Amino acid sequence: MARSKISIIGGGNVGASCAMWAASKELGDITVLDIPQAEGMVKGKMLDLLECAPIERFDANVVGTADYADTADSDVVVVTAGMPRKPGMSRDDLIATNVQIVRTVAEQVAKYSPNCVMIVVSNPLDAMVYTAWKASGFPTSRILGQAGCLDVARFRCFIAMELGCSVEDIQALLLGGHGDDMVPLPRYTSVHGIPVTQLLPEETINACVERAKVGGGEIVKLMGTSAYYAPASGSIQMVEAIVKDKKRILPCAAWCDDQYGVGGGFVGVPCVLGAGGMEKVIEIDLDADEKKLMDESISHVKDLVDTVKTTFPDLA
Ligand code: NAI
Ligand code: 2OP
Repeated sequence: MARSKISIIGGGNVGASCAMWAASKELGDITVLDIPQAEGMVKGKMLDLLECAPIERFDANVVGTADYADTADSDVVVVTAGMPRKPGMSRDDLIATNVQIVRTVAEQVAKYSPNCVMIVVSNPLDAMVYTAWKASGFPTSRILGQAGCLDVARFRCFIAMELGCSVEDIQALLLGGHGDDMVPLPRYTSVHGIPVTQLLPEETINACVERAKVGGGEIVKLMGTSAYYAPASGSIQMVEAIVKDKKRILPCAAWCDDQYGVGGGFVGVPCVLGAGGMEKVIEIDLDADEKKLMDESISHVKDLVDTVKTTFPDLA
């Protein structure tokens, strides 16, 4: 069986970490592309990663490049190109710079890998997924954004830390945009099937919810740039579901028609991921409070997309 081809656009912190997780899980051959000014950097990093193969025991071609021809006919492309935030910045502050980068990248990806599934990671995430969709002309099933896998992993970590139990036993669900108004759902969070509300007091669960919401900012404050190991891990969780056609249910920024009252747009929702990309959005019941939070988050995402449309009318 031929190996899958995975390309990663942007070989910075998140992109290089994506390559590392994908190689260590032996998901396929990996090409990481950066701008010509960073060609030496990305080639060097990928050669360094390739040289781990005998120790980590993966068989894969791992290459760095500045030439899109090397990414041709990828099965999955992960877009991490763009500026990360610095202390004091919100993800939304990156919009003007990153729209232009993501637009150019998506056009090139569509040209060289017209049949791939594209996973966008660049921020502000939900607006960048919209930008990539418009610029690529891809069907909505083959454009996804990574945010929920990261945000829910953070929430699961914090719950496990409170309980002193394995993170593997925490199942959780999270909806909404990749902003501080994301919507973790304690009512749908369980510990080996036991509702978390039976195991932790409400204040403790709420503290975990709040920490997850600002989890990105917590790391920016500590190290002066945004996180990369966990964002990359979340991205590669999605890649694995796609290249292995696993039909995993993962929280992703995915196109919603009428689901969750979105009325056409990309928002974080649970969906089935398989070889076709986003194969189905799963709609769950929300109570009045959860629905209010989800509506607020959707409205924030729509405002961001409107900023893209008004600033760049050709993307409207
Ligand atoms: P970084 O600065 O380490 O890497 C970005 C890379 O993109 C650089 O190597 C740069 O040369 C490259 N690049 C810039 N323009 C490009 C272009 N036109 N074509 C190809 N490559 C290009 O930044 P980092 O930390 O890797 O973050 C990347 C993006 O991911 C940022 O926008 C950040 O906000 C976002 N992010 C998103 C997360 C999520 O969960 N969705 C989590 C963490 C970061
Ligand atoms: C994060 O959540 C900044 O989106 C990035 O870490």
